[in-house]
Amino acid sequence: MSPSETPEVVLHDLRAGDGLPLVLVHGFPLDHRMWDEVARFLPDGLAVVAPDAPGFGDALLTESEPSIEGIADAVAEALAARGVERAVVAGMSMGGYVALALAERHPGLVAALGLVDTKSVADAPEARDNRLRIADEAERTGSVAPVRGMREALLGETSRATRPDLVAEVGAWIEEQRPEAVAWAQRAMASRPDRTAVLAAYGGPVSVVVGVEDELTPIEQAEHLVESSHDASEAALVLVPDAGHLAAVEEPEHVAGALARLHARVTR
Ligand code: MLT
Repeated sequence: MSPSETPEVVLHDLRAGDGLPLVLVHGFPLDHRMWDEVARFLPDGLAVVAPDAPGFGDALLTESEPSIEGIADAVAEALAARGVERAVVAGMSMGGYVALALAERHPGLVAALGLVDTKSVADAPEARDNRLRIADEAERTGSVAPVRGMREALLGETSRATRPDLVAEVGAWIEEQRPEAVAWAQRAMASRPDRTAVLAAYGGPVSVVVGVEDELTPIEQAEHLVESSHDASEAALVLVPDAGHLAAVEEPEHVAGALARLHARVTR
């Protein structure tokens, strides 16, 4: 198998429905299950599809170059294979990097763009070096230990203090991921470019959602996304109280409401 081959993603139908689907791309180091509760709070009849990124959840890790663009192309191909040429695309953190890459590489597909606890800028050199170190470590040890600490970092201080079940659930999701997928995704994220200009050029509706306790992509990053959007007045900024980087898991009803409103803007 050639290393340039498009990686594998697996699409999960979280809800059946007609019309323009809502595609929800998960963050790192998680899988499609992070969207289960959001899907429950979305309106009846709205089709919700959540991919597993290469190596995560049910997706196998094939011999492919680690890249966010590769994930985006694989998602576009998988959707096209089931006849989906247009969708509302929302991504959380790493999923947001994928959503921006979709907007750049497959603009006709992205009817509206949801950016949840994410950013458009590339990594600073130290952050990039840290990712490559984590990737090597995950491979060397054959374990997810290098990212285990994300269990706490992903959640806001309110969840950490008051929701031990949620902390345990997120920890279990992380433990279930493949170390080689952790390494692949870290290398993919390390090589991604700044996509702020993509956001400026993107012509469809945009919704930016952020947990007010997000320590990984704080509110300033969300404000930067809104300011960089083609029409800052249209790019609604939704602040989610009592939630951190995993606002979609911590406060799914709030996040579902924002995504439902975004979807309604292109289907009304
Ligand atoms: C995520 O939640 O997907 C990660 O925080 C993304 C990243 O490491 O940049």
